[in-house]
Amino acid sequence: MTTFMPSASCTVFFGEPLSALLESVSLYLHVPFCHTRCYYCDFNTYAGLLPLREPYVQALLTEITLAGEWARPANGGRRRARTIYFGGGTPSLLSVEQIQRLLDACSAAFAVDAEAEISLEANPGTLSGPYLQALRTLGVNRLSLGAQSFDPHLLRLLGRTHSPDDIVQAVRAARAAGFLSLNLDLMFGLPEQTMAQWRETLLRALELEPDHLSLYSLIVEEGTPFFTWVQEGRLVPADDDLCAEMYEYADALLQEAGYANYEISNWARPGHECRHNLTYWLNLPYLGLGAGAYSCFGGRRFSNVREPRHYIRLLASRQRPEAESEALSLEMQMAETAILALRTARGLHLPSFRERFGLDFWQFAGQRLQRVSEAGLLECDGCWLRLSKRGRLLGNEVFLCLLPDEDEQKSWEEEG
Ligand SMILES: C[S@@+](CC[C@H](N)C(=O)[O-])C[C@H]1O[C@@H](n2cnc3c(N)ncnc32)[C@H](O)[C@@H]1O
Ligand code: SF4
Repeated sequence: MTTFMPSASCTVFFGEPLSALLESVSLYLHVPFCHTRCYYCDFNTYAGLLPLREPYVQALLTEITLAGEWARPANGGRRRARTIYFGGGTPSLLSVEQIQRLLDACSAAFAVDAEAEISLEANPGTLSGPYLQALRTLGVNRLSLGAQSFDPHLLRLLGRTHSPDDIVQAVRAARAAGFLSLNLDLMFGLPEQTMAQWRETLLRALELEPDHLSLYSLIVEEGTPFFTWVQEGRLVPADDDLCAEMYEYADALLQEAGYANYEISNWARPGHECRHNLTYWLNLPYLGLGAGAYSCFGGRRFSNVREPRHYIRLLASRQRPEAESEALSLEMQMAETAILALRTARGLHLPSFRERFGLDFWQFAGQRLQRVSEAGLLECDGCWLRLSKRGRLLGNEVFLCLLPDEDEQKSWEEEG
């Protein structure tokens, strides 16, 4: 790949030079345990495997150490880590002591920033005040609660095991423990969900004054009970128009309440954008550790074996648990960087693109974007390219134009 280095590196992301961000990583630690499986969920997570928690944590500790070794930068020191994210599954099913050992291993293997964002996903109903206080003491500074809905009937329909009141208690306990950055996940477009129920859920959520909200439209995933019930006609999925209306209603309400829609599904108060998730949308390097976790690092995308027992066995003999790997052509990296950035409100920063790939964005994509540009799906103010209001509704049209077809990809690889 041609390396083009301008005299000064762009500093529009986190106020840091792009060159420094490209040398750092974000760490994702996957915790594949849940008390029960929600009826809609197809994440790599398992009910009934709680006895595996300790052997799994030990395997994860080994993988963190191995990753720190092979991801060392050229100078031989430890690779810098800017964020750590405990995701799941239900990471709050780990003990404080297990989380402490995992964080200690990250700090031994990587140069973790003193002010790193350290997030943990948690289910309401699994948290106590002392547990949350202990997490804060360990340096966990962002909590993401899977609230989903404030309607008790919908919570049951989803297979959630918590009540609306558990959400309120969890938020209060998190604030009392000193969490200054708190996210609530909510789902919409649920079977049987009315606009009035969605409005009520949003208002109840806003009463709790979270710093961040992630709103996900239900995807009926193959292999889940929801999928079977829809096939059997026992469950009627929400209507697309109603989903769009719910999204637009939420956006207006949240913007009015001071939350900016900084990515399609995410809203934050100023300064509370999730830095870890921004890593993905800026297509910066990340390492996913744990069963089934995905990484993007060194021009490759790769993933671990999914099954926790298999993962534990491999790590017990210090083998890397990688299952699949794909080398990303330069063209693919350019296309993905543009697509991910166009999902964000700020859009794609053209000077950063040029710095990163040594190629002007329009040289790469001008021709292929001509049709959607003429159709008014894009707007550009010189430095930033973003989707127009109409473009946000038809984002996929733009993204498809950016993806290379196989012939093009071959010719780029030959030239590269
Ligand atoms: C990794 S999950 C885990 C969070 C945590 N275990 C919980 O459920 O409370 C993150 C979020 O993805 C969303 N989600 C999961 N499955 C989904 C689906 N099929 N469609 C839309 N959103 C989904 C939920 O809002 C969930 O909180
Ligand atoms: S608690 Fe979260 S990860 Fe676990 S099954 Fe439910 S949605 Fe999936």
